Amino acid sequence: MYCYDNAFGLKSNPTPKQAKNFARYNIIIHIKTSLRNAMCSVKKKVLIKTYGCQMNERDTEALKVLLMEAGFTITEKEGDEDVVLLNTCSVREAAELKALGKAGRLLRKKKTHADYKVGVMGCMAAHKKELLFKKLPGLDFIAPPKALHLIPELIQQSYARHANQVAVPEPTFLNFSCYERTYSKHKAVARIPIQQGCNMACSYCIVPKTRGEQQNRPFNSILKEVKEAAQWGTKEIILLGQIVNTYHDPDSRKNFIDLLEAVQNVEAIKRIRFISPHPAFFSSQLMQAFKILPKLCPSLHLPIQSGSDRILKAMRRAYTKAKILEIVKTLRTIDMRASISTDIIVGYPGESEEDFQETVALFKDIKFDMAYIFKYSPRPLTWVAPQEQSLMKIPEKVKEDRNQYLLSILTQCSTEYNRQFMGKYQEVLIEGKAHRGEHKLFGKNIYNKKVILTGPESWINTFKHVQIGKVTASTLEEKVVEDGGTL
Ligand code: 5AD
Ligand code: SF4
Repeated sequence: MYCYDNAFGLKSNPTPKQAKNFARYNIIIHIKTSLRNAMCSVKKKVLIKTYGCQMNERDTEALKVLLMEAGFTITEKEGDEDVVLLNTCSVREAAELKALGKAGRLLRKKKTHADYKVGVMGCMAAHKKELLFKKLPGLDFIAPPKALHLIPELIQQSYARHANQVAVPEPTFLNFSCYERTYSKHKAVARIPIQQGCNMACSYCIVPKTRGEQQNRPFNSILKEVKEAAQWGTKEIILLGQIVNTYHDPDSRKNFIDLLEAVQNVEAIKRIRFISPHPAFFSSQLMQAFKILPKLCPSLHLPIQSGSDRILKAMRRAYTKAKILEIVKTLRTIDMRASISTDIIVGYPGESEEDFQETVALFKDIKFDMAYIFKYSPRPLTWVAPQEQSLMKIPEKVKEDRNQYLLSILTQCSTEYNRQFMGKYQEVLIEGKAHRGEHKLFGKNIYNKKVILTGPESWINTFKHVQIGKVTASTLEEKVVEDGGTL
């Protein structure tokens, strides 16, 4: 029997008690599965290619641990693997096409390696399903995001039964416990998922269809992961979710502020960040948290999407430009240097030149020091996609021009922002080796700015005070002293 059969049969609207029982049941099944896997593992080498957001990266990290527990080996070297998994993103069409192209090329390896397996996980596996098998003949399996914990068993079954084209039916809930033992050991920064899915209906976004309804992770499960990460030496926690500021514990009345306070109380944790909040649910309590909680870093990712109230309304974002300005003003009153980054979509259907100019004006006014600027990409199953023509489709050339224009403003704003650190000492949490040559390390200051410095690997996961001697639009660099060494 496939272990994931146990994930079926739950009503789509369970009572809290049913949901709790299901979660417990799933944990037991998971432990049994892990033990069985460890005993009868096929010992294959697995490569995971990750596309898209930090949630996907965290899922990949968790899956690697689950696979190792099940007796698989993880490889990072393409060509070395027996099994390849593509952890896909569906937010924009380009990301899907990239993953499809990659899967097609990888499948060719089957001609010479009969035992080679290719699987698709992540968002595309949720909404493309059978279409993936049609487009990619030879594909072995697909597993949507909520089936993360079932993947080791799925690979084993695929080998044991010599079956391909296996789709795991999507469990009703994500089993959050699969993250608990998979924190980033000995890493400076741990990304901790606090929720999955999204209940909003932003007109352009496919996420509610691929990741499903918002499911909040139990408070204690989050804290357990935070404390375990702290025990392994982690200094910084990034709380992850689609709309983190709507978080509430499924078992109590605790909310996102309570969670921030609880993480603040974990002594070994020195820095806290979160990604992403929704401006519409940004309470004054949350703004004040930046003042009250000393570990909450003054760096906020605030996805505004547009600076035009008309477009925000069409996007169903439930806030106006005034709300964005209020959040930014409050944060900068608390810390005048606060770093504020954003996501913006250009070329949304019907976006006029005046609408775009409002976004430009807001961008210049706020001076975002980092921004992800996206060209609108029509997505199936979204509210706006079928109406794109009637709402005035924006030509690709116009989207590209608007994108480039905002990018040029971003370069000015981020360079200007980074210049304020010139000559100043910054406390840097060192995260790892930089790809800049020998003895080069990278880390972040509290404002989430990347700092490049020179030092031994033993400095990774420690704090150092570094004097900044050079800045670019994207990084700060340590000042090099006369004798050729560094401070
Ligand atoms: N087209 C372009 N960008 C999109 N995003 C979400 N959906 C789309 C789309 N259809 C962007 C939003 C979101 C980020 C994760 O991706 O800016 O904040
Ligand atoms: Fe998508 Fe909107 Fe949910 Fe963000 S809040 S995931 S943009 S639907």
